[in-house]
Amino acid sequence: MTAASKTPPVVVVMGVSGSGKSTVGGLLAERLGVPYAEADDFHPAANIAKMSAGHPLDDADRAPWLDAIAEWIAAHEGHGGVVSCSALRRRYRDRLREAAPDLFFLHLDGPQELIAARLAARMQHFMPSGLLGSQLDALERLEPDESGAVVSIEGGPQQIAERALALLPD
Ligand SMILES: Nc1ncnc2c1ncn2[C@@H]1O[C@H](COP(=O)(O)OP(=O)(O)OP(=O)(O)O)[C@@H](O)[C@H]1O
Ligand SMILES: [Mg+2]
Repeated sequence: MTAASKTPPVVVVMGVSGSGKSTVGGLLAERLGVPYAEADDFHPAANIAKMSAGHPLDDADRAPWLDAIAEWIAAHEGHGGVVSCSALRRRYRDRLREAAPDLFFLHLDGPQELIAARLAARMQHFMPSGLLGSQLDALERLEPDESGAVVSIEGGPQQIAERALALLPD
């Protein structure tokens, strides 16, 4: 085996709020032995204040956020890393791919009722669960030319992480 074939990938765990990005992303990073990051942590304070007040972000708000995530991705290319980021729209993913053309997107996908139930069970989070509908409306699914895979969110976190691992590129 060559050294190049053992290079861990940089993976973006994507999906709507409540799909399990943080839960599965953390497990996946652990299994791969690579650093983990939360896209939420890259928001400027102004964005957090806006979301906390119940206002959706616009693309101008998202630009510095995506720049910061892209920087993290670029820094981890060749070493590996997992970052959880909703990445709902194709243009956000295009921005992140500018940092690493081979960036792999894992889309956590499942029935709305399942996601809603998991959101309802979750407390202490700044994303009001009423935003699930608008997130699903905004979601642009992976297109055939994008490097990535869809992962079912049925079952427990470890099971999903296993499923995700099996889908990663060699
Ligand atoms: N496979 C699972 N089975 C049961 N509960 C789960 C599973 N995955 C995640 N959860 C729970 O569902 C809730 C949502 O998961 P999580 O916070 O990881 O989603 P998220 O996609 O990171 O959401 P956000 O975009 O709002 O950060 C959490 O309370 C989490 O503990
Ligand atoms: Mg999260």
